[in-house]
Amino acid sequence: MSEFNIRSYQSGDRDAVYDICLKTGDSGKDASHQFTDPLVLGHIYAGPYMKYEPQSVFILSDENNLSGYIMGTMNSKAFYKWMNKEWLPILRNAYSEPSGDPSKWSRTEKTIKIFFMEMNKKLFEEFPAHLHIDLLPIAQGKGQGKLMMDHYITHLRNNHVTGVHLGLSIANNRAFNFYKKYGMHELERDEDSIFMGLHI
Ligand SMILES: CC(C)(COP(=O)(O)OP(=O)(O)OC[C@H]1O[C@@H](n2cnc3c(N)ncnc32)[C@H](O)[C@@H]1OP(=O)(O)O)[C@@H](O)C(=O)NCCC(=O)NCCS
Repeated sequence: MSEFNIRSYQSGDRDAVYDICLKTGDSGKDASHQFTDPLVLGHIYAGPYMKYEPQSVFILSDENNLSGYIMGTMNSKAFYKWMNKEWLPILRNAYSEPSGDPSKWSRTEKTIKIFFMEMNKKLFEEFPAHLHIDLLPIAQGKGQGKLMMDHYITHLRNNHVTGVHLGLSIANNRAFNFYKKYGMHELERDEDSIFMGLHI
């Protein structure tokens, strides 16, 4: 029986975190086959959090292996401002902007396109923090997701944050039901995504 343990992020975790991001990047399922570049997804959904707010990144370890993370920011507005000013320009230097007909772009190209756009994400005044949680299949369905959420909410509470939100793919039914069970409520949805919030 595996012994899971939640701990703070260390810089040596970075590559494994990027890998988990990819292995859960298709509405919770493995997205490896959708990407010719295995890093681009992590450059948006994992890397910036580890850089900007490493104290808000927590790791689920399973003996010596990393099997999940929960991460985010306490102040989404300041975080997106930093992404636009500091993070995305680095990516723009490292990648070429996709061109041609967007309807023909691969998922890699669609993700790289985000590097060249402003992060103009929805902000929810009552829920200034946001989070991402991803566990590998080996850690799913064993109560670890709930423990990770508890850990993260305690971290936010200790930092006097009073609300957190998240966005998820409309196709990720499992996550939607998990968050609802956790006590999050739907804030709004569009054709691709659902936003949920929790008062702390
Ligand atoms: C979604 C995810 C974080 C849930 O974590 P988990 O460890 O699998 O869930 P847990 O075992 O902690 O479940 C906690 C509770 O939620 C319930 N729950 C979990 N999934 C559920 C579902 N699909 N429907 C209803 N209840 C659910 C469990 O029964 C459990 O209830 P209990 O406390 O009464 O026993 C995890 O499965 C995951 O990382 N999936 C892949 C990546 C992903 O989709 N991330 C979210 C992206 S937005």
